[in-house]
Amino acid sequence: MSMRLVVLVSGNGSNLQALLDATTAGELDIEVAAVISNEPEAYGLERARRAGAEAIVVTRDGDDRPTYDRRLASVVSRFNPDLVVLAGWMRILTTNFLDGFDVINLHPALPGTFPGVDAIGRAFAAWEADEITQTGAMVHWVPDEGIDVGPVIEQRTVPFVAGESRQAFEERLHQTEHELLVAAVARLVRESTGTTLNGTPA
Ligand code: GRF
Repeated sequence: MSMRLVVLVSGNGSNLQALLDATTAGELDIEVAAVISNEPEAYGLERARRAGAEAIVVTRDGDDRPTYDRRLASVVSRFNPDLVVLAGWMRILTTNFLDGFDVINLHPALPGTFPGVDAIGRAFAAWEADEITQTGAMVHWVPDEGIDVGPVIEQRTVPFVAGESRQAFEERLHQTEHELLVAAVARLVRESTGTTLNGTPA
């Protein structure tokens, strides 16, 4: 029985695509049951459609955060996911959503560094200011409303290279993210037999 995922995206969906490609290649025993975006124009929705997954838009429509999160949770729960993956999802989620699911998040920075938006740009600026020599990406649990601070599942470092352009660096980091997300989900699939997804005994 494949692990059922619902993936939340807000934009391009290249990390979603990495999961879809790994599934097609037989590297991941998962089923992406649905892709949901808060942005109607998110290209990740097109990627979902091409893969035969449900592609659903849940816009905020002026709702306050708890109301939106309850509405989002009711849509996600229709698919009865084993795991919800935040892949390029750009909204803060409250416990009105988080309490209903096992949720993981991909963040383009190392644990304890550059939480929040534009983590890549801030890391690159820190390197240019000779403050750091590497950054990276992580996949972590989202047990509460903390921003990019949950228990880490997998992480990868990405060293900076002298003379490399911001664009070339970002492409290298995104490639690392794609590999990292697949590796993190593969690990959860392996560990899911016999225990609940966050590692406590079933
Ligand atoms: C990625 O760096 C992701 O970690 C961040 O948004 C970027 C784009 O992700 N949250 P995607 O291409 O939409 O998956």
